[in-house]
Amino acid sequence: ARMIALVPAAGSGSRFGAPSPKQYLQLNGKPLMWHALATLAAVPGVDEVAVVVSPQDEWFDGFDWDLPKLSVRRVGGASRAESVANGLAALACAEDDWVLVHDAARCCLSVAAVERLIAALSGHVVGGLLALPVPDTVKRADADGHVAATVTRNGLWLAQTPQMFRAGVLENALRGVAAEDITDEAAAVERLGLKPLLVEGDAQNFKVTYPRDLALARAILAARED
Ligand code: CTP
Ligand code: MG
Repeated sequence: ARMIALVPAAGSGSRFGAPSPKQYLQLNGKPLMWHALATLAAVPGVDEVAVVVSPQDEWFDGFDWDLPKLSVRRVGGASRAESVANGLAALACAEDDWVLVHDAARCCLSVAAVERLIAALSGHVVGGLLALPVPDTVKRADADGHVAATVTRNGLWLAQTPQMFRAGVLENALRGVAAEDITDEAAAVERLGLKPLLVEGDAQNFKVTYPRDLALARAILAARED
């Protein structure tokens, strides 16, 4: 079976609020998403790194990405789920191919984390995702912003990407789900009654969402260059 990294990069970065989408901002000398693409391409088991950009994208062609295994599909949709579903359709995978969906904005992904995910899922029939046990005490708020309850954090995890599923499972899962209802691929797979495996990710694999996130990303990537 082939192993394909599918990177949705068709978002506009509205919360970030820069003139160009955040995935194209310069970060340590490269476009922000170059770092994640380079990491995925550096994983020996990965055969192709397929980026999904918007049909109206004005930036992708402006960079010399200079990465092996890279391909681009201009089929991004109105939501992340739609961009992933369209990308998957464009890839024409075999049912048992593995697809690793990774946010373009998680630029500090490490090769070690991807290899941990792949190793944990070898032989698994469904798939799974990188995630992090919740480190803090969790409160549920009432309507006035007072604490209604303390939620036990035992067994609570924060979902990251890559999320790695058999192509056939992912296609079935994404078919017909209302994009607003799911915020990650695992949620769609869970709706089929299947149980994705949680694999420990790392705190560095956070998603750049706001301008304040750039300083941390810059520092993490700079430390890896030494
Ligand atoms: N994404 C996508 N297609 C969309 C929306 C999002 O491919 N229609 C991608 C983004 O490019 C990003 C990933 O999904 O790599 C995670 O989304 P998010 O961090 O929310 O990025 P944006 O949607 O661009 O940001 P915002 O929600 O602030 O507008
Ligand atoms: Mg978004």
